[in-house]
Amino acid sequence: MAKGKAKTVYEYDDDHYLIEFRDDITAFDSVKHDIVGGKGYYNCQISAKLFEILEENGIKTHFVKLLEPNKMLVKKVEIIPLEVIVRNIATGSIVRNYPFKEGMVFERPIVMLDYKDDAYHDPLMNDDMILAMGLVNEEELKQIKEIALKVNDVLKGYFESIGILLPDFKIEIGKDKEGNLLVADEISPDSCRLWDAKTKKSLDKDNYRFDKGDVLAGYKEVYRRMFG
Ligand code: CDP
Repeated sequence: MAKGKAKTVYEYDDDHYLIEFRDDITAFDSVKHDIVGGKGYYNCQISAKLFEILEENGIKTHFVKLLEPNKMLVKKVEIIPLEVIVRNIATGSIVRNYPFKEGMVFERPIVMLDYKDDAYHDPLMNDDMILAMGLVNEEELKQIKEIALKVNDVLKGYFESIGILLPDFKIEIGKDKEGNLLVADEISPDSCRLWDAKTKKSLDKDNYRFDKGDVLAGYKEVYRRMFG
């Protein structure tokens, strides 16, 4: 059993884990932590459907099936400790740390790979650093970037079809026994920025991070548009 910040991963059998989506919500390396009743359910359902959409579009993921409303069965993978971030619109850390203006639309999406380690505050890595640390080899690094851009194309198009903009998101990639790279972890309003296309209001975790609004209401709205 491995308890993360918002999910618990249980051993299921030799080839599978069971992931429980909890109601915990955290931000700023867990400096902020609360319980939002129902959040685990919404994130699990939203993630499951987004994984299915990726699979339908030929992208391999760890998702197998939902076992309970807030628990999913996934293929066992070893997570590569990189936060694979894709950006379509400038917001968040890229505006704080680099000379990009809030709201700038990137014609070419930007892929950023952060080292997943709260002790270092998830620092941005360059290719040479990633290879020097032996996190992946050159071929895998190339594949990770290709997967990131493909996931972006699919998710951006899907969200646009339900009136939602996708300024940026984070995915994690895992490696299975055979060495295949699969999209793993979760894809939810915890890990994506999702803005209402008309009002540009956040429907994601930014409502919690910056006390901008009702975080659960945003997640419910994403769910409503996805499931009708
Ligand atoms: O959230 P913050 O502004 O600190 O980070 P960011 O680099 O602007 O985040 C880019 C995207 O990755 C956002 O959609 C975040 O929700 C997501 N992210 C995440 O899910 N987990 C992290 N540890 C960091 C970013």
